[in-house]
Amino acid sequence: MTNETPRLLKISILRYNPQIPEVKPSVETYELEEGDGMTLFIALNEIRERFDPSLKFDFVCRAGICGSCSMLINGKPTLACRTLTANLDEEINLAPLPLFELIGDLSIHTGNWMRGLNERLEAWIHEEDQKEVDFDRLEEKMEPALAEEIYETDRCIECGCCVAGCGTALMRNDFVGAVGLNKIARFRLDPRDKRDDSDYYDIIGDEDGIFGCMSLMGCEDSCPKELPLQSKLAYLRRKMVVMKDEK
Ligand code: SF4
Ligand code: FES
Repeated sequence: MTNETPRLLKISILRYNPQIPEVKPSVETYELEEGDGMTLFIALNEIRERFDPSLKFDFVCRAGICGSCSMLINGKPTLACRTLTANLDEEINLAPLPLFELIGDLSIHTGNWMRGLNERLEAWIHEEDQKEVDFDRLEEKMEPALAEEIYETDRCIECGCCVAGCGTALMRNDFVGAVGLNKIARFRLDPRDKRDDSDYYDIIGDEDGIFGCMSLMGCEDSCPKELPLQSKLAYLRRKMVVMKDEK
């Protein structure tokens, strides 16, 4: 414990319950004494315990792994469980991520959106003959450097921050976002996936895919896992431009 007087935090939260549409959205402000090592997870729990048990927000892992606690913190999409209040001013504004289905207050349904995305991109390994998978067969060895490169893309936790921070996604409902394009980059790297660039082009070769990206960098700036999204997108765009010319 430090001997300094703790700061008094003023946490303002955009409150709205879509199940009760007659109650208009409002901003409620709660005052809390800041504790040592306080994260927004701790602060929100304290608010719920002390002031309003109806406050909705999502947390599962509290360790930046599950992606469920993403929200707008002072307007920036990021993970609440990894955000120390010590790194913020006394006045903190919280709102739900835009674009996703609102469950209530800070709780959103990223799962529905991500499931739809994964189905649309067919985000699984496509073997040559999907019906004849031999489950006893050993996988081919993979070079460690390639495995590392695939792992780098697999660090995505589907938190949705890159989508919420993306100018194109705000304008185009069907844009797959950096999260989707990162998935295509991942499968394109994987030698077990037998789809070729022509197949990937059919999935993302339009304005709702790779050609919708305006290179504003909002995705990479917002990604709490610091994935190198722009370099992946730029590489994919170069490959897909070649396919466009060939089609
Ligand atoms: Fe979240 Fe980053 Fe994955 Fe986007 S790419 S969903 S910001 S972890
Ligand atoms: Fe899992 Fe924040 S609670 S990432």
